[in-house]
Amino acid sequence: MLELEQKIKDKSAKVGIVGLGYVGLPLAIAFSEANFKTLGIDIQQKRVDEVNQGHSYITDVSGERLQAAIANNLLQATTDQSRLKETDVVCICVPTPLTSTKDPDLSYVIHESREICKYLQPGQLIVLESTTYPGTTTKLTLPILETSGLHGGTDFYLAYSPERVDPGSKAYGINNTPKVVGGINDESTRLASLLYNQIAETVVSVSCPEVAEMTKIFENVFRSVNIALVNELAQLCQRFNISVWEVIAAASTKPFGYMPFYPGPGIGGHCIPLDPYYLAHKARELDFHTRFIELAAEINEHMPYYVMSQVTEALNARGKSSNGANVFVLGIAYKKDIEDTRESPALKIIQLLHEKGASVSYNDPYIPTIKLPQGEIASIELNESSLSSADCVIIATDHSCYDLNKVVAHSKLIYDTRGATRGLEGDNIVRLGE
Ligand SMILES: NC(=O)c1ccc[n+]([C@@H]2O[C@H](COP(=O)([O-])OP(=O)(O)OC[C@H]3O[C@@H](n4cnc5c(N)ncnc54)[C@H](O)[C@@H]3O)[C@@H](O)[C@H]2O)c1
Repeated sequence: MLELEQKIKDKSAKVGIVGLGYVGLPLAIAFSEANFKTLGIDIQQKRVDEVNQGHSYITDVSGERLQAAIANNLLQATTDQSRLKETDVVCICVPTPLTSTKDPDLSYVIHESREICKYLQPGQLIVLESTTYPGTTTKLTLPILETSGLHGGTDFYLAYSPERVDPGSKAYGINNTPKVVGGINDESTRLASLLYNQIAETVVSVSCPEVAEMTKIFENVFRSVNIALVNELAQLCQRFNISVWEVIAAASTKPFGYMPFYPGPGIGGHCIPLDPYYLAHKARELDFHTRFIELAAEINEHMPYYVMSQVTEALNARGKSSNGANVFVLGIAYKKDIEDTRESPALKIIQLLHEKGASVSYNDPYIPTIKLPQGEIASIELNESSLSSADCVIIATDHSCYDLNKVVAHSKLIYDTRGATRGLEGDNIVRLGE
C-alpha cells in the first residue's frame, strides 16, 4: 500500500488548503472535522489572522466550528507558502475570475502552481478545485509542477475535483453533495477519491481531469441557460399580462421532465456569470461557437436594464420620473441569506439608477457598506420612515428576514424582482414577469 494511502486511511495525512475563501474555508473545516490536521494558506494576512482567531467571514462556517477546529489543534492558517512542505495533500481553491474583456484569468492558478512546485514533495497529492475549462489540470498545472523534476502520476499525484457548494444552503453541504474526481492517472484518481471519501458520503470517479472540469462547467452552464430561458419567459408573460410565477408554479406540478428555475434581476456570484465564459473562450480555440452560452449570458446580463426600464415605467405611471426619484433597494447580496456581493445584479441596478439621476439608498442586513463609483454608502435601517420616504422600493434580493407585510404596508411603490410578495395584495406592488 502506498504511504499516502495509509496516511489517508489512518488520518495522519496533513491536508493543505490554498485559498481560504467561500470554497477553501468550508473545505478546511470539513477536513479538520474529519480529524485531519489541516493547514490553510492564504495570501491575505487579514483572513489568516481571522481564521487563527476563530472569526469566520463566511456565512456557511460558524465561528463555533472554526473555534472548535482550532482548539482541537486541527486547523491553523498561514501566509507562508513554504509550509506546503509539511503537507501530504494540497487542495487548490484560488479564484478563477475573468479579465475585463471577459477572458479567463488563470493567473492565480498559475501563480499557485509555481508556489506548490517550489515545495513539491515526492508522494504528495495535489488537487485543483478552482473552476476552470477542460485541460487546465493536465496542460497548465501538470507541466508547471513537473518543472520540479518530479514526474506526475508516479512521483506525485494530481487530480481535478470541482467544488459544488451551494452557498447559504441548509440542505446541502460538502458531506452530502457527491464529489466528482478525475486524476491524471488511475493512481491519482484512486488517492483523490479515497481522500474525499473521508469528508463526502459519495465520490464519483471519472476517467480524467477534463471530464471533471467539463462536468463542473456544464452544471453552471445548465443553470445559466435555464435561468435565461425563464428570464425571457418572464418578459413575455408581462406582455401577455399573465404571471410568470403562476406559470412556474403550475408547471412545477409535473412530476417528471421539468425542473423549476426562477426569473430575477440577473445572475451573480463567482460561478454562474463567469464559468460559462471559460468554456466559450476555450471552445473558440477549437473553432466552436457555444451559442447557447452566449445567448444565455446576453439575456441574463440584460436583466438589470430590464428592471431599470420597468421601474422607470412604474414611476412614470405615478407621475414621477427616475431622475430625482428616491429609490430604496432591498438586498444587495446576489442571492438570499448570504453576504456575497460578487457580480450582484443589485449593484448594477444601483449604478443604472444613479446614471438616471435617482437618489439611491439600500438595506442589506448582511452587507453594512457597498463601494460605488460615487463613493461608499452604508446600509440604512428598514423601517416605516425609510420605506415611506422612498418613491420606489426595489426588492432586489429577498432575504428571509425581510418582513414583506411591513414593506407592502409602508411603501408607495414596490418593484419586486423576485416574486417575493406573491400572496400579498396591494396596488403599490409591481412584480417582474407579471
Ligand atoms: N463561491 C462559490 O460558491 C464557488 C462554488 C464552486 C466553485 N467555486 C470556485 O472556487 C474557486 C475559489 O472561489 P471562492 O469563491 O472560494 O473565491 P474567494 O475569492 O472567496 O477565495 C479565494 C481565496 O484565495 C486567496 N488566494 C488567491 N491567490 C492565492 C494564492 N496564490 N495563495 C493562497 N491564497 C490565495 C484569496 O486571498 C482568497 O481568500 C474559484 O475557481 C470559483 O470559481 C466557487
